[in-house]
Amino acid sequence: MKTSRYAVAGNPVAHSKSPTIHALFAAQTGQAGQVEYGRLLCPLDAFKATVMSFATEGAHGCNITVPFKFEAFEMALRRTPRAQLAGAVNALRFDPAEEGGWLGDNTDGVGLVRDIENNAGVKLTGKRVLLLGAGGASSGVLGTLIAARPSWIVLANRTVEKADAIVQRHAAFAAEHGVNLQASGLDNCGEGFDVLINGTAASLAGAGVPVPASVLAPGALAVDMMYGPAAAPFLAWAQAAGATPRDGLGMLVEQAAESFMLWRGVMPDTAPVLATLRAELAI
Ligand code: ATR
Repeated sequence: MKTSRYAVAGNPVAHSKSPTIHALFAAQTGQAGQVEYGRLLCPLDAFKATVMSFATEGAHGCNITVPFKFEAFEMALRRTPRAQLAGAVNALRFDPAEEGGWLGDNTDGVGLVRDIENNAGVKLTGKRVLLLGAGGASSGVLGTLIAARPSWIVLANRTVEKADAIVQRHAAFAAEHGVNLQASGLDNCGEGFDVLINGTAASLAGAGVPVPASVLAPGALAVDMMYGPAAAPFLAWAQAAGATPRDGLGMLVEQAAESFMLWRGVMPDTAPVLATLRAELAI
């Protein structure tokens, strides 16, 4: 059978685990010879041209990572509702024009929610959630978090205006789902949250966790959207504060599974893939 080509497009991409994850999904679903998933390093000023030539060469789709998720959004002729709400695309399917043209999706939010609910075993319905950061990472997952119907979501950011803008964009969706959604600064975001999600780049900037431990309810789950060394300071802080720490590796595998489903029409089993990655990374 014909091989279909995919890739993760970003800058940098050398570190990306996505090729490993998709190779494991392909093997698991009996498609090892039909799926080829590589890395597509895109110059910062030539994302669109690089992806266009990948598609012209016959590729079927790509994932998109930093810093190109907003440009990928612009390239999609059609978008899923969750991508539309996120304002960012992390998965493109290169559908031909006669089928409607390129489809843009955003699987980050569903990846995060599935990791929290299925892998960490914490149902979000009725919970109080604090989401830190108002960059692409946080705005990409907020819609799907709302759809999981926690009672309350506070989006807290150093620059409050950015949190305000994202909250306004999601206000109607939150009201439809009965979710109390608020924007705040970091120093007045409240206390006693059941789930804390870190979507800031504070640790990359060498800074500590930008909120006090009092944001955590006893037994809270504290999730960093990053994994590996970038997540280590947050996870150590959460552990010391008595919370259950969780890195972003599960979210990575789950968002990849949803991308695989979008392209291949089959949902892989994520548990063995996550276990393999954890063993390889020893984290
Ligand atoms: P990404 O697309 O990965 O989310 P981004 O758009 O650069 O990256 O967003 C980074 C987020 O981390 C922002 O919310 C940023 O806060 P500001 O909007 O105020 O810039 C947050 N951030 C970065 N460094 C931080 C720090 N030292 N303390 C607190 N927040 C920080």
